[in-house]
Amino acid sequence: MSYRYGNRIQAEITGSSHGDYVAVDITGLPKGFRVDTGRLQRFLDRRAPGKSILTTSRSESDRPVFESGMEDGVLNGEVLRAVICNISQDPSAYEKIKDTPRPSHADLTARIKYGPDVDMRGGGAFSGRMTAPVCVAGGIAVQILESMGIYAGAHLRSVGPIADEAFPLYPDRELFSRISEKELPVIDDVAGEKMRELILSCASQGDSVGGTVECAVTGVPAGLGGPLFEGVEGRIAHAVFGIPGVKGVEFGAGFGASAMKGSECNDPFIIKDGEIRTGTNNSAGIQGGITNGMPVVFRAAFKPTPSISVPQKTVSLSRMEETEISVTGRHDPCIAVRAVPVVEAVTALALLDLIVEEKEWNLLK
Ligand SMILES: Cc1cc2nc3c(=O)[nH]c(=O)nc-3n(C[C@H](O)[C@H](O)[C@H](O)COP(=O)(O)O)c2cc1C
Repeated sequence: MSYRYGNRIQAEITGSSHGDYVAVDITGLPKGFRVDTGRLQRFLDRRAPGKSILTTSRSESDRPVFESGMEDGVLNGEVLRAVICNISQDPSAYEKIKDTPRPSHADLTARIKYGPDVDMRGGGAFSGRMTAPVCVAGGIAVQILESMGIYAGAHLRSVGPIADEAFPLYPDRELFSRISEKELPVIDDVAGEKMRELILSCASQGDSVGGTVECAVTGVPAGLGGPLFEGVEGRIAHAVFGIPGVKGVEFGAGFGASAMKGSECNDPFIIKDGEIRTGTNNSAGIQGGITNGMPVVFRAAFKPTPSISVPQKTVSLSRMEETEISVTGRHDPCIAVRAVPVVEAVTALALLDLIVEEKEWNLLK
C-alpha cells in the first residue's frame, strides 16, 4: 500500500514498520537544488528512535539511501526515491494483539478495513515509523523553504499538565536551531526537566502521557491561500492530521479565542519596519484563509501512546468476549517528543506545495 500527500510536490510513502524498509518517492522538486545531506541527516536524527531514555528503545539509524533523483547532493529532476532500511524489528510482542486489539490503537479499525490478515506488526502502516520517510521529504522541503527566506521550527509546548513557554511574537531561526539541539526540544529548560520527570514516571508505571507541539513559520509571504476551502489553515491541518496520534490542531488563539472578547482577540494593525503587521498574533498569521505576513503559528495535540502495559479492557475477537490486555514491547512513553520534527516536516511540505501552486518557483533564490 502507498500513501500520498501534496498536489505539486507529491510525497508517496511506502513500506511498513516491520517490513524490510520504509521509503518515499517525491515528485515536483526543483531540478538543480543542492540538498545539504548532512543537515538532512541531523533532521532525521531528531526523530529517530533509540537516542534517548525518553523514547522507545527500538534503535534505528534512519539513514536514507537515495536510489534516484539526486546526484552528489543535487536534485536532477527525476523522481527522488529515498529508502530507509528497517534494522531493529521485534515482532514477538505483536502476536497477541492479533486477537485482542489495543485500545485506541488502529488494530481493530485496520482489521475492519483491510481484513484479518492485515500486517499490524510494529503498528504496520499506522506506526510512527512511517514518519521517517515523511521527514526525508519534509527535511528537504525545510531546506527549499529556507532558500526562500522561510523558516519553520517547533517545540514541545506541553506534556500532560506541564507547559513550556509559548513562542514569542517573532520567533527567529536562532531560537529554532537552539531548541532543535536539545534532548527535550523546549524553550524553558526548567519546564523541560519537569516534563522529563513526568515522562519517566509514566514509563516506570507502564503508562504513557500526551502532549502538544507548537510550530511557527516565519517569512511566509502575505497573500497565500484563499477563502472557504482554499484556506491555509486547512492545508496545514490536513498535513498535520496525517501524523499518527494527532487528535487536535489549533491556530493562534485557537479554542481559547472562543472565551475572549473581540477587544482582546482582535490583532491591531501596526506599521513595523515600513510594513503592515499586527501587534498581536491571535490570528496565527492567517485571516480569511490568507496569510498576512505575520508568523504562522499553530499547536498540534498528541494523544498519549496507546500501547501501555497498564491492564486495559479489550475484547477477544475469536471468542467474542471481553478480556484484558497489557501491552508489551518497545514503545514511546510520549509520542509528542519524537513528533516535534515530524510537525516541522509536514508543515514545510504543506507550505512548499502551496507556494509552488500559487507562485511557481519565483521565490527560489
Ligand atoms: C513518532 C511517533 C511515534 C509513535 N510511537 C508509538 C508507540 O511507540 N506505540 C504506540 O502504540 N503508538 C505510537 N505512535 C502512535 C500510533 O502510531 C498511533 O497511536 C496510532 O496510529 C493510532 O492513533 P491515531 O488514531 O491518532 O492514528 C507513535 C506516533 C508517532 C508519530
